[in-house]
Amino acid sequence: MNNVQSVVPVVVGASVAETPASDMGEASPHGRSSVPAAQMSVAVATGREGLRDDLIRPLLLSGVCAVGWAAAILAGHYCDFGPMLHRIGLAVHILALVFSFGTILVIDWIGFLWLLGKRAIHEPGRLEAAAKPLIWGGLALLLASGALIHPDLSSTPTRVKLACVLVLMLNGLWIAPVMRRVLALPPDTRFGAVGRWLRMRLMIALAISQTCWWSAALIGMLNSTLRRWSGS
Ligand code: HEM
Repeated sequence: MNNVQSVVPVVVGASVAETPASDMGEASPHGRSSVPAAQMSVAVATGREGLRDDLIRPLLLSGVCAVGWAAAILAGHYCDFGPMLHRIGLAVHILALVFSFGTILVIDWIGFLWLLGKRAIHEPGRLEAAAKPLIWGGLALLLASGALIHPDLSSTPTRVKLACVLVLMLNGLWIAPVMRRVLALPPDTRFGAVGRWLRMRLMIALAISQTCWWSAALIGMLNSTLRRWSGS
């Protein structure tokens, strides 16, 4: 599902290196994890790289996203780019929305089918990895074009929308490390075979992602419509 992105496969595989065996898979009646021991030892062996990939990288990328987000808002608020760039910005905004949100909906749908046992665990993860440029490229365009169309920071819905944009980006970044672990899980791993805590993380990340994407898109549309109706 969705990462800014795909959440379902992502959270399922959450940090194998730091996750207790009981979290990695549902304990069998004999008290054993359903994740093979060989796979766990591979994950545990990657401690230092795990720290870099699971913590430092998302932290740095979160900083980059937060700076880009703030720059877009400040530029949009303080600069007037004129009517021509405004028109171009709006067209690019909608195109970028199709790229990123459209891609996310497809990935989330395949992740949902995995939850229902109708798709293999690796399908959404692979699709998400291939679609990363579309999702993040689309988001970068949304930020840049959003600045051109002059967000109204005095409006509460607009502020809520912009907060949603930041949250969905951070949510996507922090579930990405888990995705790598998911791709290391056996292809026939079912949602029910994953530990309860990880399943919960999965569902929470999915809920955050979907709530934020839909809120941002609907508030954007509502704002535009109201502005057109009022003729401003
Ligand atoms: C996930 C990111 C985003 C989504 C899904 C999104 C979605 C949308 C949508 C659907 C519209 C309506 C377009 C129309 O009907 O003409 C819109 C308009 C708009 N968006 Fe975004 N947007 C996002 C990010 C941003 C950002 C980061 C900014 C500002 C920096 C921004 C500023 C605006 C503005 C100013 C409008 C025009 C609203 C108006 O006419 O008052 N958006 N957005």
